[in-house]
Amino acid sequence: MNESRPIRFHHRGRIVEVADAAPTKSVLDWLREDAHCTGTKEGCNEGDCGACTVVIASLAGPHDADAVRGLKLQTVNACIQFLPTLDGKALFGVEDLKAITPDRALHPVQQAMVECHGSQCGFCTPGFVMSLWAGYETHRACGTTPSRQALADELSGNLCRCTGYRPILDAGQRMFELPAVTLDTAPVVAALRSMAEGEETFDYRGRFFAPKTLEALAALREAKPEARLVAGATDVGLWVNKQFRDLGEVIYLGGVKALQAVEERDGVLRMGAAASLEDAWRALARRWPALTDVWLRFASPPVRHAGTMGGNLANGSPIGDSAPILMALDAQIELRRAHHIRCMPLPDFYVDYMKNRLEPGEFVQAIVVPALAADRQVRGYKISKRFDCDISAVCAGFGIELDGEIVRTVRLAFGGMAGVVKRAAQAEAALLGQPWNEASVRAAQAALARDFTPLSDMRASAAHRAQVAANLLLRFWLETRPVNPLPPSATSVFAAMTHEEA
Ligand SMILES: Cc1cc2nc3c(=O)[nH]c(=O)nc-3n(C[C@H](O)[C@H](O)[C@H](O)COP(=O)(O)OP(=O)(O)OC[C@H]3O[C@@H](n4cnc5c(N)ncnc54)[C@H](O)[C@@H]3O)c2cc1C
Ligand code: FES
Ligand code: FES
Repeated sequence: MNESRPIRFHHRGRIVEVADAAPTKSVLDWLREDAHCTGTKEGCNEGDCGACTVVIASLAGPHDADAVRGLKLQTVNACIQFLPTLDGKALFGVEDLKAITPDRALHPVQQAMVECHGSQCGFCTPGFVMSLWAGYETHRACGTTPSRQALADELSGNLCRCTGYRPILDAGQRMFELPAVTLDTAPVVAALRSMAEGEETFDYRGRFFAPKTLEALAALREAKPEARLVAGATDVGLWVNKQFRDLGEVIYLGGVKALQAVEERDGVLRMGAAASLEDAWRALARRWPALTDVWLRFASPPVRHAGTMGGNLANGSPIGDSAPILMALDAQIELRRAHHIRCMPLPDFYVDYMKNRLEPGEFVQAIVVPALAADRQVRGYKISKRFDCDISAVCAGFGIELDGEIVRTVRLAFGGMAGVVKRAAQAEAALLGQPWNEASVRAAQAALARDFTPLSDMRASAAHRAQVAANLLLRFWLETRPVNPLPPSATSVFAAMTHEEA
């Protein structure tokens, strides 16, 4: 183990060292209380409103398609990001835009907001400006301009209570028409390189440990089975902010590059447990475009940049959106303790409400989607009260393979219908070997009622959940039936977007 040392990150043109902050102090609190950068606002303090949106820069890797001259610029919610996770990175808040604009005038993003009347009370504005700025830099670097729909998705993590979104979207288009101002990334890249150390594990105050390799992580996890694993902290951050929980020792997974990789080889898609939700879902939607709807409605871009696929599966939430989809894809989950690796089908991982098969000293290493029959049709459906950035009442992942009209293989997995995400065994049995027609669907709908006894809660009543689940099955059939299937344009608002746009 290395010596403990301060957190080091690049902020406002210099490398900052912080030695005395609590390991779970949020980036937002540091910005406002210690750096006195009060432009970044606190609204919900739980990742929902986007008032605290900042941009984090890290060194781009060779496969980062949307790199900005050597940097990967990503929005995150500063309120649920722990300060030590900034180590080795650069932090940009709304005050920085002035510094990068000639004559310290308004940046084109800000100028466009003024011209298009994109701000009334102004509380949400810094968050919108940072989301717009990240998109501005990335699109400029890639030579693209976003469509209005793509802009709307990029802003789906920012709430505005007074202006309304039309003028803000207008600003998002107008900013590209103004004289360009782009970040000089060279000094930031140099600063980040100077901080990239060879240490095996970053130790902050003997409480926060960030291993840099899989081997270091495995050894540390085995030595500290009681420590709290933290990946994106988009769940754990709320335990601290809202439940005031003391996390004790923390093992942070974000420093292990090998755990972030998303690779496709011979039809097998392997997602490291710490792959961001954005990277993992992008890969899933590239292979199964119908999954775009769930991808773009999963939380918001800042949450998807920080949150990870492994965190979504390990938290064991019965309303997590990834598990039902991955079950429809026959995904396996790979668990590791020291050098011992075991794999299991995802449904076997969940034991009971918020209980899984992880043993002390173990962690999720990867999620593997096997090579599937080329004709498997896959769909994901998310039912929530709000369209964007909402938790599902019901989330369904369906897959089907047909021999002519006969069902050869079927996977029907649901979140929100039981204490765990699980497959509908009886409904699947009702369909297997049957013709894929309306009569079979009706039989499967009846079987669904035996598979699940959903609960009523603030998101939906039991009756609503049962009805919706049955209706989704019918929708799946309408979209995948051999004769006259409904085209994506009939059911998806994202169907008009190309993958590159998304
Ligand atoms: C505003 C907002 C919107 C959200 N919307 C959605 C949504 O639409 N759909 C949805 O499903 N979820 C949603 N979430 C929940 C959350 O973003 C996801 O569950 C996310 O994937 C968690 O990943 P993380 O990396 O942030 O996990 P963390 O918060 O870091 O960890 C979560 C849990 O997993 C454990 N863990 C993390 N990684 C590993 C690992 N590799 N091995 C073992 N244990 C591990 C941690 O110890 C902890 O118990 C939302 C959250 C917020 C704040
Ligand atoms: S304060 Fe609302 S997302 Fe952070
Ligand atoms: S301008 Fe008031 S909340 Fe958006």
